[in-house]
Amino acid sequence: MREFENILVTGGAGFIGSNFIRYLFKSAGFAGRIINFDKLTYAGNPESLEDVREEFGLRYVFEQGDICDSARVTETLVNHQVDAIVHFAAESHVDRSILGPSEFIQTNIMGTFTLLEAARSFWRQRQDVLFHHVSTDEVYGSLGATGFFVETTAYDPRSPYSASKAASDHLVSAYFHTYHLPVTKSNCSNNYGPFHFPEKLIPLMIQKIQRKEPLPVYGDGSNVRDWLYVVDHAEAIWAIITTGRLGETYNVGGENEWRNLKLVEVLCDTVAEATHRPKEETRRLITFVKDRPGHDQRYAIDCSKIKSELGWKPRTSFEEGLKKTVAWYLDNSIWTERVTSGTYRTWIEKNYHGR
Ligand code: NAD
Ligand code: DAU
Repeated sequence: MREFENILVTGGAGFIGSNFIRYLFKSAGFAGRIINFDKLTYAGNPESLEDVREEFGLRYVFEQGDICDSARVTETLVNHQVDAIVHFAAESHVDRSILGPSEFIQTNIMGTFTLLEAARSFWRQRQDVLFHHVSTDEVYGSLGATGFFVETTAYDPRSPYSASKAASDHLVSAYFHTYHLPVTKSNCSNNYGPFHFPEKLIPLMIQKIQRKEPLPVYGDGSNVRDWLYVVDHAEAIWAIITTGRLGETYNVGGENEWRNLKLVEVLCDTVAEATHRPKEETRRLITFVKDRPGHDQRYAIDCSKIKSELGWKPRTSFEEGLKKTVAWYLDNSIWTERVTSGTYRTWIEKNYHGR
């Protein structure tokens, strides 16, 4: 089992990164230090880790910085003697990539390249270090009614977001093969859970049901996603970085496919139950709107490799995960209000007006 002392987590102020840091300290028994390196875009919120900062003091360090800034990245690697990088930082929302791809190319491709270069030069030929790249199932394209993505499925990205993630995946593999940089990679399906920015389907719908606003279902709502509770994803990444084979990719999924419309209906019922409102009242808010351009029809992950090689499996049932998630959002509406004010609100008003 690999052990690390100083893990640099990029994008640790975002949804999955913040859950991963909390998981490492509170559940995985990680005994070292974590350096959270984050630019704090609209999607990054250091307050999401206030509990960790209070409880773990000097073992948790926050460094504000851009992964595209080579000098800042190198300085951070040197100052903290980083021996592992877990790379989450990215522009992550497909709709935004359609409206403005440029930042996706910059952060997801150039940012990953900058990190790889900095790691290669700082670590030289060391083999007791690791670069773990967190990626998405969207690089594989779109499925029809049957079939699953496996690690060897040919790449076929179809949005600027997934194309930028595909490029970053290829760079990581290239650094392994060409420079022998010790790397691992994971491609995961849709995550859900606490601290998820409310532009993504599940938290957006919960927020809108609470506010009694129309629930915008794209197209006819027949698209399918495979949902995984975020803490299960954190556990998978920990298994990969400690015991995964170098140079390998592991697909991570929830074995939990839902059509969007059905999922939104379940969310309506779950929020109605939790807030003692009639189910018909919440379901009545469902509104079909113009489809996302190039909307991928179905994603579904075959995660048998990580199950058989590393003994990981999705542990949280959808019923339990969704209940926990809805309860978290109902209890934390101040967080939601805060992260959706300011920059985000200005952007949404400019780009989504009238949707
Ligand atoms: P997120 O948008 O919630 O968080 C992204 C974080 O990265 C934010 O804290 C942001 O401030 C930071 N960031 C953005 N640009 C940066 C830059 N240039 N330099 C430093 N920090 C920067 O994203 P997420 O949903 O937590 O996704 C994390 C990673 O997991 C991404 O790489 C994404 O592609 C991947 N992923 C996400 C999902 C999902 O369902 N959310 C599924 C599979 C893979
Ligand atoms: O599959 C992994 C990917 O999952 C990650 O790589 C991405 O970072 C993450 O954002 C997510 O991408 P999706 O595009 O699948 O997630 P999103 O929550 O944006 O949408 C989920 C589905 O719901 C998708 O089919 C589009 C639909 N949708 C979304 C929104 C925001 C709606 O019908 N209405 C909406 O308002």
